[in-house]
Amino acid sequence: MGYKTLCFGFSCVLFAYCVYSPVPENIEEPWKVRFMDALIKVTSLVATLFENIGLMKYGEVFSTLTTVHLTKPISDENITVIDTNFRDIPVRLYLPKKKSKRQRPAIFFLHGGVFVFGSCKISGSDDLNRWTANKLDAVVVGIEYRLAPQYQFPVALEDCVFVIKFFLQDKVLAEYGVDPTRICIVGESSGGTLTAIVTQLLQNDPEFKDRIKAQVLIYPLLQIINSYLPSHREYEHGPILFRKMAIKLVALYVSEDTALLQAALRNEHMPEGSRHLFKFVNWSDFLPEKYKKNHVYTEPILGKLNASYPELVDSRLSPLLVNDSQLQSLPLTYILTCEHDFIRDDGLIYVTRLRNAGVRVTHDHIEEGIHGAMSFTRAPFFLHLGLRIRDKYISWLEENL
Ligand SMILES: *[C@@H]1O[C@H](CO)[C@@H](O)[C@H](O)[C@H]1NC(C)=O
Ligand SMILES: *[C@@H]1O[C@H](CO)[C@@H](O)[C@H](O)[C@H]1NC(C)=O
Ligand SMILES: *[C@@H]1O[C@H](CO)[C@@H](O)[C@H](O)[C@H]1NC(C)=O
Ligand SMILES: *[C@@H]1O[C@H](CO)[C@@H](O)[C@H](O)[C@H]1NC(C)=O
Repeated sequence: MGYKTLCFGFSCVLFAYCVYSPVPENIEEPWKVRFMDALIKVTSLVATLFENIGLMKYGEVFSTLTTVHLTKPISDENITVIDTNFRDIPVRLYLPKKKSKRQRPAIFFLHGGVFVFGSCKISGSDDLNRWTANKLDAVVVGIEYRLAPQYQFPVALEDCVFVIKFFLQDKVLAEYGVDPTRICIVGESSGGTLTAIVTQLLQNDPEFKDRIKAQVLIYPLLQIINSYLPSHREYEHGPILFRKMAIKLVALYVSEDTALLQAALRNEHMPEGSRHLFKFVNWSDFLPEKYKKNHVYTEPILGKLNASYPELVDSRLSPLLVNDSQLQSLPLTYILTCEHDFIRDDGLIYVTRLRNAGVRVTHDHIEEGIHGAMSFTRAPFFLHLGLRIRDKYISWLEENL
């Protein structure tokens, strides 16, 4: 009886959200988006409730839901799929079966999930990586980096750096028949954060300079110092990614302290003395005119948070915080942004900053795009938009990798 009532209550709330949550007019498959958006909002609501009554932590609810979608490493007629470890970090490898006359390119894939959930083994990532390996005749390495809040900054980053450096050893490349001049990193959302940072770190490391041929950033998160950019204001309520959830989950990568979360929600989390960093993410300078609309630039409010978090000023968390001289030697870059995305402006600003620094950037902006679309690859969570995004950057990789 209690269980049924709970389910009924849950369904009612879900239905109400579906009907009332507005979705942008120009998006396709609006009812599906509405449904998924409602599902995420209800999940967040339930997670908050569970956390308040001490049943489960907020982030745990999301990571538990992820595990429902985990897949086994199943090979098919084209691709051998293997779960293994590089040292002690799990990776999933996709190795094309057909004989190849020449060495293959390699692609590292960094999944999204706001550093708290997600996996390279969930169906969305698995479908994508299998398809990529087949389409590009490439070795694909999905990195199962460790997640927050159990493992906070910079563990996820260190795991990715470790796996990529490990794989780039001559003997490992040779073992998998990989061409050392055709290495690429692909990341979506918070995986895009990690991709951008790893690429910067390797490029500024004499031993690994010029080893990465290309980076691909799909609706990436690229800074956490300013949560009041125009896209944060316009898409505060989503679809898919919305302010409260996004900030709450990202904050967990730094700390579980609720004072940090509350300050970040008000955009008052940065410390005294960090004003100089805001020039790197100044939307007033870097956003193309059409996105500025009638938004008014406001100066950051600093020093409101008593505890000190050095992570907040670290470019290994916000890759936009490096100066132009650290950007200029970055490799060929592909960035995809979606219009209806809470973090749209991160990608747009990076496009401008990279181009200003002389980096070759290909940028696709999807007017009817929504955040996270590429993860929705299976019914009932299937969006045609996701396949179009995938096809866009894969065809770019076909030409450029
Ligand atoms: C194997 O590759 C062929 C050619 O690309 C494709 O038509 C087929 O669907 C692939 N099989 C699987 C299971 O993906
Ligand atoms: C950001 O840009 C605006 C307009 O160009 C300027 O007035 C403001 O001082 C800049 N702020 C920072 C922190 O760079
Ligand atoms: C920060 O510290 C000041 C002075 O010690 C105190 O008055 C204030 O309440 C503290 N603020 C928070 C949010 O803890
Ligand atoms: C850019 O940053 C690097 C590392 O922080 C520093 O060594 C260099 O002097 C800076 N360059 C400029 C032009 O500010």
